[in-house]
Amino acid sequence: MEQNKDINEFDIPLAKRTYLKNTNGILLKRLLIYSPLFLLIFSIATLRLIRNLESGPLLNLNSQVERNYDDRILGHLPYNEISKEKLVFIEPNISVHVDMKDSLLKMRQEAIKDGVNMVFLSGYRSINLQKDIFYSLKSVRNQEAAERARVSAPPGYSEHSTGFAIDIGDATQRETDFEKEFENTDVFRWLKKNAAKFHFKLSFNKNNKYIDYEPWHWRYEGSIEALKVFETSNRGS
Ligand code: DAL
Ligand code: ZN
Repeated sequence: MEQNKDINEFDIPLAKRTYLKNTNGILLKRLLIYSPLFLLIFSIATLRLIRNLESGPLLNLNSQVERNYDDRILGHLPYNEISKEKLVFIEPNISVHVDMKDSLLKMRQEAIKDGVNMVFLSGYRSINLQKDIFYSLKSVRNQEAAERARVSAPPGYSEHSTGFAIDIGDATQRETDFEKEFENTDVFRWLKKNAAKFHFKLSFNKNNKYIDYEPWHWRYEGSIEALKVFETSNRGS
């Protein structure tokens, strides 16, 4: 009995249970819930990084290839010579691509109705003729190739060989034939305003870096063949 009393005196009070917050567990649970999302974001970021690393320099290289290697020579694009069967005469010594004949003659008629008289100076030119123009005639002027190319295309590089180019003058101001001053004639002013209606476009405008401004030189883009021929030019310039 004596012993029991002692025990009661020294009994340990009931332990108070306190639960420590298990922060590590909560964090782990959250991590598990959000891990697919983290994984997705991480994968997308990695993929984008890889793609940028791979394609960045390649893209730059490609655009450089396009800029530097579109087959231009001294600023002129290459053009094939039209086959003879597709050529038709519009004047005793001027022939053009059959696709553009009607539109060109109609354009001249419409201009006449407005009191404007255009004269055709040069249409189709064979690659051989272009060779003569580029090497023989211009060498008389003691010009280097780059200087010649500002006014004449090297053989194989002239729009005239396609039959889709036409040089136009003003019948009342022949002194402006093949001259920059042609831009001050009624014919040029009329062309600027109306040529697009007949599918003609000025080939060498004032912004061209390599080739001089040629207000007299127009090209036809009114058929699929013509559009194909000038596709590269229209893309790049
Ligand atoms: N005059 C132009 C550039 C040509 O020769 O085709
Ligand atoms: Zn021309």
